[in-house]
Amino acid sequence: MLTQSDNEKLTRVGPGTLMGTLLRRFWMPALLESEVPTPDCDPVRLRLLGEDLVAFRDTNGRVAILDAYCPHRNAHLYFGRNEECGLRCVYHGWKFDLDGNCVDMPSEPDESSYKDKIKLTSYPAVVQGGIVWIYMGPAEHKPQLPNFEWSRLPANQRTATKRIQQNNWAQAVEGGIDSSHISFLHNRTEKQTAAVDAVTSNKFHAQDRHPVFEVKEQDAGLLIAARRNAEPGHYYWRVTQFLLPFYTMIPPVGNFRDSSQAPYDGHAWVPIDDHTTWTWSFGVHPQRAFTPEEADYRGGSNGMWGPIDENFMPIRNKENDYMIDRHKQRHANFTGIDGIPNQDAAVQESMGFISDRTREHLGTSDRAIVNFRRLMLRLAQDLADGKEPSAAMRCEDYNVRSVSVISQAGIPFEQAAAPYMSGHKN
Ligand code: FES
Ligand SMILES: [Fe+2]
Repeated sequence: MLTQSDNEKLTRVGPGTLMGTLLRRFWMPALLESEVPTPDCDPVRLRLLGEDLVAFRDTNGRVAILDAYCPHRNAHLYFGRNEECGLRCVYHGWKFDLDGNCVDMPSEPDESSYKDKIKLTSYPAVVQGGIVWIYMGPAEHKPQLPNFEWSRLPANQRTATKRIQQNNWAQAVEGGIDSSHISFLHNRTEKQTAAVDAVTSNKFHAQDRHPVFEVKEQDAGLLIAARRNAEPGHYYWRVTQFLLPFYTMIPPVGNFRDSSQAPYDGHAWVPIDDHTTWTWSFGVHPQRAFTPEEADYRGGSNGMWGPIDENFMPIRNKENDYMIDRHKQRHANFTGIDGIPNQDAAVQESMGFISDRTREHLGTSDRAIVNFRRLMLRLAQDLADGKEPSAAMRCEDYNVRSVSVISQAGIPFEQAAAPYMSGHKN
């Protein structure tokens, strides 16, 4: 459990909040590159960390992210005209370049220099790995981009999708680092074929439902290992990476005897505001191009992350109880809900926009959750006390993979996982 005060500190992300200030020290995924595909394309509205923003790609092909509200009389610049290296407000024609400078003010006399005094907030934005990244912190603390393997690989070896989740970012992260729930929430209760069991780790999850957790703090986050019994004298380890401030990497399923050959997936839970979160999902094949079927499974809207509408809202959502099927719940899977992300969203959104952590009763399987909260609260308080988060500057520490591995009992998990943990070098 947390005190009410710590729960507030952990979850609130707006300007000036303790956690919001910490999150603003890190680059964040803001948009799919495909949302701003070409020079002078339509502007896009977005909201991050409780701030309303507008993004556009200018005539020279550069992407800008500005405060959404025109500094004249607050019209939303989403309705603006993207023309000749700037975004022009349609109310009275004020025009802004990608740095937020007011470059034209046709509503004032020609001789006026008023426009030189007007500046709109502009956040640094760069495109890498099919993603538009944003940095919303102080310029003097701007780090390099985190060196994720998935952001550097050729486009045919990676996928990226995003969907809206209607709850606070922290409870979404807590779902991502909670390796214990896969034995329940995502379990299939119908009999699996021997062929499926042979190539997946499902049988270990089903056979051993109370994994032993070990959590190691690292410079860039947490290494979270869940140990389950495998064949006699051996353990099956799932090693999840939590990378500050909201990234997780899910251990591969299958190929756990050499997980460097296996595709793996990751998430970023990027706060839209205190009550809403972008759930980003990244797929990576470190060794080869995804086949069209594999790419569609990971990146298509009917793939494993489930169907979404044109606004990235899942079709199965809380308004329709995620289309729960009670017959299926009795006979086929644990929840009666189709799709792993929908199962996750159902329980996480069911806690309310911000879970009341004062009424929880945590157990031994919640060790990673406890570590995550302690780490985030400590770093946020440190920053308030003047100590910068070193992880934001350690961009190379993000070039890591999650790991599934079977090893002999007695071997420490870091040792068993070490051969598979590093991403490709540049
Ligand atoms: S409100 Fe934008 S130009 Fe007037
Ligand atoms: Fe899950």
